[in-house]
Amino acid sequence: MSETVQPLVRQAYAPPAHQPTPHSERNSAPGRVKADLEGVPETALWTLHHRAAEATRPDTVLPDPRAVQLVTEIAFPFQERLGAARPWMAQAVALRALGFDRAVRAFLAEFPDGTVVALGEGLETQFWRVDNGRAQWVTVDLDDPLALRRRLLPHGERQRLVACDARDSRWMAGIDPSRGVLVTAQGLLMYLQPAQVTRLIAACAGAFPGGTMVFDTVSRRFSTHTRAKRSGGHRLPPMPWGMDAADRKQLWQAHPAISEVSEVPLPRGRGFLGHLAPCAAAVPLLRTDRPLITKLRIGTAPASLTGQP
Ligand SMILES: C[S@@+](CC[C@H](N)C(=O)[O-])C[C@H]1O[C@@H](n2cnc3c(N)ncnc32)[C@H](O)[C@@H]1O
Repeated sequence: MSETVQPLVRQAYAPPAHQPTPHSERNSAPGRVKADLEGVPETALWTLHHRAAEATRPDTVLPDPRAVQLVTEIAFPFQERLGAARPWMAQAVALRALGFDRAVRAFLAEFPDGTVVALGEGLETQFWRVDNGRAQWVTVDLDDPLALRRRLLPHGERQRLVACDARDSRWMAGIDPSRGVLVTAQGLLMYLQPAQVTRLIAACAGAFPGGTMVFDTVSRRFSTHTRAKRSGGHRLPPMPWGMDAADRKQLWQAHPAISEVSEVPLPRGRGFLGHLAPCAAAVPLLRTDRPLITKLRIGTAPASLTGQP
């Protein structure tokens, strides 16, 4: 990390002052970009907060200088609003991102000129971690988080930002399936209703023959927990959709073009939890009740599905 950035990071992660500054004043810090996100869009700041905290460690599992820089450029009281980024949670968020990075790299190894569509990308800096210099990259998010992303990150000509609800298939316009398409949804689908998730998967399977989709999920138990009445401290918004490992087979039913449903194992991390991450499927208590990353492959659609002669 550069010497200029380090004091700013310390400032961004400084413990909250005893006399909290009014929200309006904190958000007007000179030279910083104001972030007025609430509800599910605010979770983009939560994941950034955790990835950046993890990336500042000398033994980080996910080097991400751009994320570290980003938290210094946003006028948002990270600690005060979201709480301290606990090391185990920061590592878990980073390992999830690393799992997605590996899936994207594997896709680009197969389709170097392919298109990666990142649904609900928020302030994820994955492009700068995995870019191969040739891929097309489409970011899809809601209006306010997308506008914030546009102001903060230096998008190049192979990157396109689309302000659109992921549930609205208009984001699919202009995406060329012929050179390969990977649709990622990191930290998104749990915030949708179960029927909306099925429709989204079906829409992707219908639109991108030969494509791949990668998304993560929380367990059914965790989803129920987020919907219960809770008090005290920062809480992530309710997550209506949860899926256990045993539910994965139901994904086949979303669309007849789905040709493979498989688990993307979490990468190995640091310490006890980090070592447990890739083998959680073999641990009795975690076998069903754990976050998952799932990959769907979409077959080349038969004529009956595409309407082609
Ligand atoms: C938990 S954040 C994840 C951000 C990023 N993918 C990451 O991992 O850091 C959820 C993101 O999904 C976006 N989002 C929520 N609902 C959405 C929807 N219906 N359509 C598109 N984006 C949505 C939010 O604005 C936010 O950026």
